[in-house]
Amino acid sequence: MTFPLTRPRRLRRTETIRRMVRETTLAPADFVYPMFVTGGRGVREPIASMPGQFRLSTDAAVALAREAHGLGVPAVILFGIPAHKDATGSAAADPDEAVQRTARALKDALPDLCVVTDVCLCEYTDHGHCGLVEKGEVLNDPSLDLLAAAAVSHARAGADVVAPSDMMDGRVGHIRRALDAEGFSGVAILAYSAKYASAFYGPFREAAGSTPQFGDRRAYQMDPANAREALREVALDVAEGADMVMVKPALPYLDVLARVRDAVDVPVAAYNVSGEYAMLEAAAANGWLDRNRAILETLTSIRRAGADVVLTYHALDAARLLGG
Ligand code: PBG
Repeated sequence: MTFPLTRPRRLRRTETIRRMVRETTLAPADFVYPMFVTGGRGVREPIASMPGQFRLSTDAAVALAREAHGLGVPAVILFGIPAHKDATGSAAADPDEAVQRTARALKDALPDLCVVTDVCLCEYTDHGHCGLVEKGEVLNDPSLDLLAAAAVSHARAGADVVAPSDMMDGRVGHIRRALDAEGFSGVAILAYSAKYASAFYGPFREAAGSTPQFGDRRAYQMDPANAREALREVALDVAEGADMVMVKPALPYLDVLARVRDAVDVPVAAYNVSGEYAMLEAAAANGWLDRNRAILETLTSIRRAGADVVLTYHALDAARLLGG
């Protein structure tokens, strides 16, 4: 049967019908809100390349998380901006650093908010790489204990989920064993499994002061040209005990996201990263696109490609637009 008997427009005639046949849903429950946390009190320092986002002290982070929670956003992910950096990123596992203090304060103030923490060394190392560096090379195996120590310190502070983003080989299994050995078998791992060496992390690195001081991350983050390799990375992480896997960034990798969704049964997350946020905000600020519609269309596309969970700086805006 074809035209004129078949007319797809019949199902687009009214909003009620469109709603009835809609394939993809978008709700505040799908979002994780990323927050940059730092020391001090009453700090709410704007991030220039991410208008509307802030570096937050613990008290300000709790206030904003309360707002997110009130809008129906179930989770936040914390990134730390430490007081000092050194060659081994020792502040990453410091129980008095911003991530650990904020995780404790959040679990105290909002016990049913899901607290996710980003586990990486790049915010804490003076060279800005995600692992230990020797003779200009980022070492894999010697970095694992440091990452595991950071993850355990987050769990001890109350994190529900730890999210390793360093892309070292074997880190999911290493972290899983360390968590279990310390009595945190209930803490889940959200693995940044397919994390690409992307230009779209630029604003984040400004926000977190984590730009590598030499070279780049191409010897550990994935080559943007590769999709099959993402399936391999995801399979390895699931085998090592990842409870959820992630594709990052989101928009330039929707094809990878769809393939990962088909390949695994664990929940799949996608990270709508800082550069994606900055692009949309910059165009909207110039009046070049309709901000609210662009936000919802973007997030819907990420869900349609297969993400169960979307990490997005637009979480609160989108939740408001969705009537949360
Ligand atoms: C830390 C980390 C980065 C992001 C999340 N975790 C930066 C990087 O790998 O350089 C990027 C998030 C964003 O751009 O919003 N390794």
